[in-house]
Amino acid sequence: MHTLAIIKPDAVGGGKTGKILAHLEEAGFVIRAAKLMRLSQAEAEAFYEVHRERPFYRSLVAFMTSGPCLPMILERDDAVNHLRTVIGATDPAEAAEGTVRRLHAENKERNAIHASDSPENAQREVAFFFPESDVRRLWGATVR
Ligand code: CMP
Repeated sequence: MHTLAIIKPDAVGGGKTGKILAHLEEAGFVIRAAKLMRLSQAEAEAFYEVHRERPFYRSLVAFMTSGPCLPMILERDDAVNHLRTVIGATDPAEAAEGTVRRLHAENKERNAIHASDSPENAQREVAFFFPESDVRRLWGATVR
C-alpha cells in the first residue's frame, strides 16, 4: 500500500532531509519515488485546494512555495495510518515524543512533513506528483 509524503521547505532548507528519510526508512517505509522540486503558486494552491477557505490557506501556499520540497511515494503495510502515526500531530507541540514533527518541525504551519490523511487522498496526491509511467520506469510493472 502507498501513501504520499512531502518533506516541506522548512525541513529541506534546514538540512533535515537526510534525517527524516532515515527516520521513514527505519519505520519500514520503502521510498518508491522522490522528486526535489519547487512548487509553483498554482501547484501549491491546487494541492491544498481543500483548505482554500481556511484562514491559514494564503500563508500555507506562501510557505510551500518558499523553497524546494521533496514529495515522495512511500510503501509499507497500512501505509496511510502508519505514516500519520510516525509523523505525529500537525502541531509539533502536540506531537508525540519521537515523531518526525516533534523532532524536526518549527510550528503548526512549518511542520516539516505532509502525509496523506486517507487512502483516497493518497491516491489523488500520488497521482498529483508522479505520473504512473514515471513510477513504472523506476521499478518495472510491479508498482502501482
Ligand atoms: P499538512 O499535513 O500539510 O496539511 C495542511 C497544512 O496546513 C498543515 O500540514 C500545516 O502545514 C498547515 N496548517 C494546518 N493547520 C494550521 C493552522 N491552524 N495554522 C497554520 N497552518 C496550519
